[in-house]
Amino acid sequence: MKITEVLNCSFSAWYSKFKEYTVKSHVIPLPPEFIEYLLADQIVLPEQTVAMATADPDSDDDNRSAEDDIDWTTEDSLTPVAEPPSFPEFEAILKSTIKKLGGQVFPKLNWSSPKDAVWISFDRTLMCTCLNDVYLLLKSSDFITHDLTQPFKHCSDDENLKKETTVQYDLILRKWLSMNPAYEFRCFVKHNKLIGITQRHIDMYYEFIPENKKEIVSDIQGFFYHIIKDNFPDKNYCFDVYRRHQGKLILLDFNPFGRVTDGLLFDWDELEGNGLLPENDSAHHIPEIRCIDSPSGVQPNPYSAYGYPKDLKDISSGEDPTKLMELLKLKVQEQNGELSSSDDDEEIDLMPSNT
Ligand SMILES: Nc1ncnc2c1ncn2[C@@H]1O[C@H](COP(=O)(O)OP(=O)(O)OP(=O)(O)O)[C@@H](O)[C@H]1O
Ligand SMILES: [Mg+2]
Repeated sequence: MKITEVLNCSFSAWYSKFKEYTVKSHVIPLPPEFIEYLLADQIVLPEQTVAMATADPDSDDDNRSAEDDIDWTTEDSLTPVAEPPSFPEFEAILKSTIKKLGGQVFPKLNWSSPKDAVWISFDRTLMCTCLNDVYLLLKSSDFITHDLTQPFKHCSDDENLKKETTVQYDLILRKWLSMNPAYEFRCFVKHNKLIGITQRHIDMYYEFIPENKKEIVSDIQGFFYHIIKDNFPDKNYCFDVYRRHQGKLILLDFNPFGRVTDGLLFDWDELEGNGLLPENDSAHHIPEIRCIDSPSGVQPNPYSAYGYPKDLKDISSGEDPTKLMELLKLKVQEQNGELSSSDDDEEIDLMPSNT
């Protein structure tokens, strides 16, 4: 995979060419200060949120607790908090764009959406209706950080070229679509041939897919040959589509052809090998379609671990055996009645996994 292939999948590189076949979207260049804010450690939301969360000092609230009377501004409790961010021009554009797109948008950067941060949102979706929704998702996502810091990590180009290649970062706001996940597919193109199609959400069994494989393949093939094939600049790439109705497809995204893209029901060894390519140059080659054929075939959701305490993740995956040992030791001590309050220091620190 080359840097140019990654750049060709960047949203602004393909959107104008495929505008009429994809979801209505706006590309908003990111000011450098906003990028800095996204990469800074703390999550501080714009002032409006703070104002909303602060209790009204004049309110006559009988339910006040003793805690409410503590003066939190005394030296002991004063922790340095970063200034709330303020990007007036950028925010004005963001607000008017959300409005223009109908008040509900889907956010992403050049390549990635913050789908690993969905756990932090109120309704567990990526739907944003205001600035703070967008900020919170972007700031909580490792995928967004990856776009900003290592977009060419998996490219085979020279390391110097990777460092020298500059990227114009954009925030992409897309009109929110209420989608049926059973109708989403990922398609793989190699040597300009459509070689594979897989259901996009592999943690679910959708009866509809195995029952309609033929029609699905035929629609996607038509879409590829008529709309995508001669208009995309590379010969190897992946694209995602939404098949809203029979014969009606919407392009969702392009992704580089390589391990950085999730192969879902395909293995990258197979995709990179020759097994899925047509034997001759026949224009009638039928790509392989893969789907979950029974409820027992579903696979775990790859993003379900995001947002859980990192220690739990490390223990369950065996990534950090010392944590498991510590946990077992604590358990034994607890059973032997050895654990006293002075053992508090040994408690495993449950840090959120995305910090
Ligand atoms: N406009 C939209 N409205 C609502 N949901 C959307 C929209 N666009 C995408 N989605 C949902 O979010 C998912 C991820 O979107 P998208 O493919 O753009 O993100 P991504 O970060 O590029 O993913 P990947 O890394 O797998 O390529 C889609 O599979 C779809 O279910
Ligand atoms: Mg993508």
